[in-house]
Amino acid sequence: MKKLTFENLSNIQDPTSAHTKVYDDDGVALELGEEQQLGAGAGGGVYEIANAPQFCVKLFNPVDMADAAERDKIIQRVEAMVQMAGRFARDPRLAWPLGPIRDEKKNPIGYAMRRVPEGYKPFRSLFGGAAAVARRFPEWGRRELAVVAKNFLETVHFLETQGVQVADANPCNFVAGPDGRVVFLDTDSFSFRGPDGTMHCSEMHFPDCTAPEILSNPALANAPRTPEQGRFSAAVLAFQLLMLGQHPYTFEGETLDGATVGTPEENIRRGYCPLGKRAGCHQSPQWYALWSWFPDTLQYAFIRTFRDGHANPAARTPLDVLALEVDKFIFECGRMPERNSLSPAGPKPRRDPAAAFAGPPGGGFRGHGKPFVPRHAGWQSQGRPAYANGPYGGPGFPQRGSARRMPFPSSGNRP
Ligand SMILES: Nc1ncnc2c1ncn2[C@@H]1O[C@H](COP(=O)(O)OP(=O)(O)O)[C@@H](O)[C@H]1O
Ligand SMILES: [Mg+2]
Repeated sequence: MKKLTFENLSNIQDPTSAHTKVYDDDGVALELGEEQQLGAGAGGGVYEIANAPQFCVKLFNPVDMADAAERDKIIQRVEAMVQMAGRFARDPRLAWPLGPIRDEKKNPIGYAMRRVPEGYKPFRSLFGGAAAVARRFPEWGRRELAVVAKNFLETVHFLETQGVQVADANPCNFVAGPDGRVVFLDTDSFSFRGPDGTMHCSEMHFPDCTAPEILSNPALANAPRTPEQGRFSAAVLAFQLLMLGQHPYTFEGETLDGATVGTPEENIRRGYCPLGKRAGCHQSPQWYALWSWFPDTLQYAFIRTFRDGHANPAARTPLDVLALEVDKFIFECGRMPERNSLSPAGPKPRRDPAAAFAGPPGGGFRGHGKPFVPRHAGWQSQGRPAYANGPYGGPGFPQRGSARRMPFPSSGNRP
C-alpha cells in the first residue's frame, strides 16, 4: 500500500506498486486497484476503487496540475460540477463528478464517479464495419446501433436543454451497453455555466467531430460552445454509429471541382460531404448501400446538418428531431430485414414499391405504425397494394443477376 502524492502520481502506472491510497472529501481513504487501471487519456488516468467497486476515480494529468492556471481551471470546473450534481449525478447516462478526490495534504487531485458497468464498449470500437460490430455484440443489427444512436442523441439533447454542451465529442468518450444504453464519460470536459454564473469552457475537441466554424477559427474551441456546434458533433457520431463507422465527410474518388479525398477533418473544413443530390462528390458503393436503406426523412435530417448546416449553423437539425427520425428507422428495421442488415446485398432499389413505406419526401409516413399508402391508381394492381404480396409485405428484393437489380450508382448519389 502506498500513499498517493503529486510526486509519485506519475509512477501510478508502475505495475510493481500494487495499490495507492487517495482520500475522499471526508478524509476516508480509498484504495485504488491499480492493476486494473480502467483507462487513461490526455486528461488523466481512471482507476477502480478496490473497496467501492461501483465507483472509480479520475486523477488529473500531473502535467496539467503542475501549471497553476490550468490546475485552477480544472479544480473550479469539477467543484462547479459537484455543486450541480443534484441535477445530473443520479442520471445513469452520465459519469458525473460526485465529489473531489484529494491527496494526503488535502489537495484536490481528481474526482470520483460511477463506474461503467461490465460489458459496455466505446463507440470507437463499433466504427470498424460489420465485423467490428459483430465482434463486440454478435447479435446486433442496425436496429441495435440505431437504439444506441437514439439514446446518445436524446442525452446530448437533454444536456443542451440544461445549458450543458458536450465539448469533446470523441468516440472514446461514450460507451454503449449490450442493451443499447449509453454512458457519457469525460464529463469534466463539458462546457457549461456554473451555479455562480462562471462560464466553464474546455478547449478539448476531436477534429473529426468538430463543427467547421471551430476548425477554421480554433479560438472558438475555448469559447462557450453553442448548441449548434454540439448538434454538428452529435450528428457526426450518430451517423457513424448508424453507418458502422463511415464518416459523413468521406467520399470516393474526386470532387466535381477536382479535389481528392482528405482526412475527415480536412473534408469538414472544406465542406466535402457526399450525401444528397448535387453533392459534388459521392460515397463508395458499399457505404451508399447502407445509406440508401435509411428512410428519406432521416437522410434529409442528416443532409440539413452536414450540407445546409455546413456554412449555416442554424440549419443543423435539432437533436430531438434527429432522434425522432432515428426512431422511425428503428421501427423500419423491425419490418424490413434489408434495413436491419449490417451488410446489405446492395442499395435500396429506386423503384421498389417498398420505398412507399418511407412516404413521400418531407412527410407522409409519420411513424404511427401504418405504411404510407398512395391513393392514386398507379400504385395498385388488381385492387391490392402492389407491395402486399412479397416478403416484408413487398414484392421482394430483386434476385442476384436479375435484370431489375439496381447497379451501385457510380455518381450523383441521391438520398
Ligand atoms: N466512469 C468510468 N468507468 C469506467 N471506465 C472509465 C470511466 N471513466 C473513464 N473511463 C476510462 O478511462 C478512459 C479515460 O477517461 P477520460 O475521462 O475520457 O479521460 P481523458 O480526459 O484523459 O480523455 C476512458 O476512455 C475509459 O476507458
Ligand atoms: Mg476522454
